[in-house]
Amino acid sequence: MDGAGVIDSDGRQVASPVRYSRETRWLHWATALLILAQFALGEIWIRLPRADRAPLVSLHLSLGVLLAAVFVTRVAWRVTGGRAIRFASAGTMADRAAHAVHGLLYVMIGVELALGYMARWSGGRPVVAFGIPINSPFGPFDHATHHMLGQIHNWLAWAIVVLAVGHGLAALYHARVLRDGLLRRMWG
Ligand code: HEM
Ligand code: HEM
Repeated sequence: MDGAGVIDSDGRQVASPVRYSRETRWLHWATALLILAQFALGEIWIRLPRADRAPLVSLHLSLGVLLAAVFVTRVAWRVTGGRAIRFASAGTMADRAAHAVHGLLYVMIGVELALGYMARWSGGRPVVAFGIPINSPFGPFDHATHHMLGQIHNWLAWAIVVLAVGHGLAALYHARVLRDGLLRRMWG
């Protein structure tokens, strides 16, 4: 994240505010919202009696499949250059740190989605998305593996949320303290 201004791919200084494309902004905020909803659902149902959990688990699975679709679209969008604005990185420590955090978030979310499917399938049940069952392509799993997949899914959920909150705070720091228009290019 470059606080000094925005430079386009030809190295020219560009007048602020520069925005990410509408699609990129929608994909970003849809991902953020779905991840926070998934986390909240998981943390709420584990505190409920077993008999009351089913509707929340069911919503978690449907939203999980939706999130996977949004995520795949987002990665495809990004690797094909659809992200639309490019910055000549200033190469500062802060720039590299921001880049690393974004990359790490992508990797963690991808792994978390895969773990979610595996946590479900390893229990011998399909992932049901809005009433449509997606059956496991794998054979049966033992109970210990099923339990472990659920646990790693839970730990990684916490790690993603902690990192995402830090990332959100960094964005607010840009908006409130540096006042460099960075948040506007994703929000506006
Ligand atoms: C679960 C929540 C979130 C995730 C997973 C997430 C992920 C990401 C990723 C991967 C990028 C890199 C851009 C790209 O590759 O498309 C990004 C950019 C950005 N995010 Fe988030 N984000 C989240 C929440 C937030 C929140 C809450 C805010 C603001 C308060 C925010 C503000 C921004 C801004 C301003 C950028 C653009 C940074 C730049 O232009 O250099 N994000 N986000
Ligand atoms: C980034 C997205 C996701 C987040 C943040 C998330 C978060 C959580 C949390 C916090 C729990 C509660 C953990 C516990 O039982 O202690 C959970 C459980 C679960 N999630 Fe997710 N989840 C995500 C995506 C998915 C997806 C895509 C699926 C499947 C399609 C899924 C399937 C499950 C299942 C089956 C459980 C129960 C695990 C078990 O206890 O065996 N999740 N998730």
